[in-house]
Amino acid sequence: MRQQIAAANWKMNLSLAEAESLIDQLIATPHAVKAGQEVVFGVPFPYLINIKNKLAGKAHVYIAAQNCYTQKSGAYTGEVSAPMLKSIGVDYVILGHSERREYFQEDNAMLAVKVDICLDNGLKPIFCCGEPLSVREAGEQNAYVEKQLRESLFHLTAEQLKGFVIAYEPIWAIGTGKTASNEQAQEMHAHIRSVLGAQYGPEIADSISILYGGSVKANNAKEIFAQPDVDGGLVGGASLVAADFAAIINSLK
Ligand code: PGA
Repeated sequence: MRQQIAAANWKMNLSLAEAESLIDQLIATPHAVKAGQEVVFGVPFPYLINIKNKLAGKAHVYIAAQNCYTQKSGAYTGEVSAPMLKSIGVDYVILGHSERREYFQEDNAMLAVKVDICLDNGLKPIFCCGEPLSVREAGEQNAYVEKQLRESLFHLTAEQLKGFVIAYEPIWAIGTGKTASNEQAQEMHAHIRSVLGAQYGPEIADSISILYGGSVKANNAKEIFAQPDVDGGLVGGASLVAADFAAIINSLK
């Protein structure tokens, strides 16, 4: 059965002291991570080791970088590579977040390279996809998301895609307080799974965790996560508040 995942995306927020305190508060807030569930913290680069150490020994809890570069090493001042992340014990890398696509010109072809370099180095991508409002209004969201998947993931083998993690994040719902309705989320997640199934077969499609992202909050997580093809969430704002993120973890199926 595929994993149910609550993934925090802290983005470019928190000082080190604030990040450590957030983890302390979360540990002190009642929540349970059961078998078949995972909690992932998407931490800014400078604190990855600190947060990893703070979480040492916690079952089903992982850390994620929020990006990595396309090259292994070399003269790329300011960039961070997949082998570097692996060397400090990072588990996951969030790839293709819409903020990276928009502000840092990451396109589907570049993301295909990043997916490869993560997999080659034993890091699990959390691959983000999702349409802007104009595409949703034109009713073209299914084709748009399918193209993102085809151009960044469909060169992978079935073995590589087994147990993969995808996050569907409609751009119009990110940080806006405007969540996709349960029906909109389920419809897109089912579409993503059927596209994966047509290409790789139902067994692979069923093994892939598809997270929903975009204004997931403590008070809406349960109903969104209850949708049959929604396997948890990628959570921005609400992951910065311990009580809210604890409630979101407790909302996993
Ligand atoms: P949000 O962000 O929960 O603040 O909408 C989600 C994301 O960008 O991953």
